[in-house]
Amino acid sequence: MVGHSFDDRCVSEAGAELGAVCSPAVSSLSVACVSGARPNFPKLKPVLDALEERSCQTYLVHTGQHYDHTMSDIFLDELGIRKPDWNLAIGSGSHGQQTARIMEAFEPILDELRPDVVLVVGDVNSTVACALVAAKAGCLVAHVEAGLRSRDWAMPEEVNRVVTDRLSDYLFATSRDAVENLKSEGYREDQIHLVGNVMIDSLLANKQRALGRQQVVLDRLGVEGPYALATLHRPSNVDDPDTFNGVLQALSEISAVLPVVFPAHPRTFRRITESGQSLPGSLVISEPLGYLDFLGLEIGARLVLTDSGGVQEETTALGVPCLTLRDSTERPVTIAEGTNRLAGTTPSIIVGAAMSALEKGGGRRRPELWDGRAASRIADILVSGGRSSDRRRPTEL
Ligand code: UD1
Ligand code: UDP
Repeated sequence: MVGHSFDDRCVSEAGAELGAVCSPAVSSLSVACVSGARPNFPKLKPVLDALEERSCQTYLVHTGQHYDHTMSDIFLDELGIRKPDWNLAIGSGSHGQQTARIMEAFEPILDELRPDVVLVVGDVNSTVACALVAAKAGCLVAHVEAGLRSRDWAMPEEVNRVVTDRLSDYLFATSRDAVENLKSEGYREDQIHLVGNVMIDSLLANKQRALGRQQVVLDRLGVEGPYALATLHRPSNVDDPDTFNGVLQALSEISAVLPVVFPAHPRTFRRITESGQSLPGSLVISEPLGYLDFLGLEIGARLVLTDSGGVQEETTALGVPCLTLRDSTERPVTIAEGTNRLAGTTPSIIVGAAMSALEKGGGRRRPELWDGRAASRIADILVSGGRSSDRRRPTEL
């Protein structure tokens, strides 16, 4: 279903149309926005812009969960995000260590800033850590990408999603399935706002620039003709040697049909080196790519194989066939309305699904409100939502 009938309208209270066209209001609201990991940057950029257009005071706090140039600064440069006002330089660690360090470093910043709202995106450790500190500091908490559920409690992100939603005053959902999840968990309708997808706001804003980079990257990687693109970073896929070797075997087999470009996340790069497998030259492994180079390759790919949340959404918006190498997804709209299919991690099933997807091709059916205006809706709702003293808080009846 393509549902662009709400394009110029504010949507609130579990998707109920407010009916009025909202013009940007001027506001003195202060909003601290949190970034931590690679996918947070394209999600935050349009939100920062939309808040600033409405004269909100914004602060950008980067936890430093991701820190390599190719996982962090390149996104700031390419997306035109200003240097963060704070970089907590937390770095890597176990879940408990990383979450605790972020909380400890974020708390004094909030004490100093006292923002009206703390806005967190996605489901990474930085998201839940900052939401918890913010809730206890008395700030309003806004969660962008609320309500997504994979139903896989072994996934660290699922824990982060559920806890962050519980701490949040504003639950900004990308799709109606997420709204339904939140309603069934008992959230009040006034907390839930179906706004669309900020990741797609950035994709649409950068598509032309990315297209301009496509051939340059392909030349640099030595790839000619049709190609597939792969990314992997979930611990369940890359940290278990049997699963990881099986997926590498599947990618190698597919690369006999067309080259597979595989920009590897640092966690994955390390595992490839450790695995000692001899891989065919047509499986083209590279360092992680910058946002524009990667998007350029996504646009031109005949097929994408991934375990990334953001890449499932981007391929749907682009109409590029996508196989998700997992048994579940928290983004079912990319299957119901997009180009995504779950292919699991069994090599023969992945290869069969890849051949079938190559034969069928893609097709664009962009989900409702994935129209490049999600951040404007979020900013309008925050500006009209007032401060903590004006609002019912998360557990008030
Ligand atoms: C994190 C998120 C995951 C998200 C992914 C996006 C959590 C629990 N996981 O996973 O939801 O999909 O980011 O990419 O928050 N490393 C580097 N350089 C870096 C960053 C990481 O070398 O700049 C290496 C380190 O060895 C580190 C490992 O990658 O231990 C994992 O990093 P981490 O941030 O803990 O988890 P991700 O797998 O990146
Ligand atoms: N991405 C990128 N370079 C890469 C791989 C991914 O720029 O080498 C982008 C991708 O286009 C998307 C985001 O990173 O915008 C997704 O991040 P990731 O897969 O790390 O995290 P997830 O979405 O799974 O949380």
